[in-house]
Amino acid sequence: MDHPESRLRLQAELLWSTTAVQGGRFLFLGGVDLDMKATDGTEAQKRAAGGSAANTVTDGDVVGLGTGSTAAHAIRALGETVDSGTQISGVPTSFEARALAREAGIPLIELNEAVGPDAPGIDIAIDGADQIADGTLIKGGGAAHTREKLVDTAASQFIVVADPSKEVRTLTHPVPIEVLPEAWSVVSGRLRGLGGEPEVRPAVQKDGPVITERGNLVIDCRFGKIETPGSLSGDLGTIPGVLEHGLFVETADEIHIGTDDGVRVEHRGWVDDPGAHL
Ligand code: 5RP
Repeated sequence: MDHPESRLRLQAELLWSTTAVQGGRFLFLGGVDLDMKATDGTEAQKRAAGGSAANTVTDGDVVGLGTGSTAAHAIRALGETVDSGTQISGVPTSFEARALAREAGIPLIELNEAVGPDAPGIDIAIDGADQIADGTLIKGGGAAHTREKLVDTAASQFIVVADPSKEVRTLTHPVPIEVLPEAWSVVSGRLRGLGGEPEVRPAVQKDGPVITERGNLVIDCRFGKIETPGSLSGDLGTIPGVLEHGLFVETADEIHIGTDDGVRVEHRGWVDDPGAHL
């Protein structure tokens, strides 16, 4: 129990139990699973993926900067290219990405400045994923998926960076869903109607739920094996009170998987041979 992750997990479980007993408000305790960011990947694999994606960025590009530990490696690598004279502008997908980009010396512009009639557009976005199957992703382990989807899908090219533990044949990861605070109960009922098992995501170093950058809640919803992500995505998108969900259906143009032997790059069109390497 000395491992920091174990301590965090225990702490989170204790906080969550306390909330449930004291407040009785977020009673989705069927199977508490706080491993929304669980990965068996190594830092070296993530660094390799991030560096490989950063290498595709060229002088003058506007770059969407993703969130999470793998995208962070890409941001750091981009910072090094800026140091060596490459001119880029970054569009951050979260508070975390913004802070890291500032630290790395990457000039930033707002999404509304980057996209529009007289705007430069976003040339490329680099972002991580919690699970990947044939170019369809589940994102939102960092509760940043609403802005991530805005930036990643606005880009001319979207590159996903990940370690091999994220790849699966069929998506099974709980789908993060950002909801208005007053809507969590109604939305949870609708999710159960779709066959899901919703849980409001608990915070770790705070009592109560995770609050997103926009002041909303996140519901993580298990659907078991997601055989038809496109249809589920459509269903989730029509629920009143849902801001955005973490299913990114066939949005990726390239997937850079960092391995111990280098980086494997999958290009759009991989669906011809789905999961052949798995
Ligand atoms: C944040 C995300 C992240 O990209 C995703 O959780 C992957 O993170 P990591 O690279 O740390 O595993 O979607 O909302």
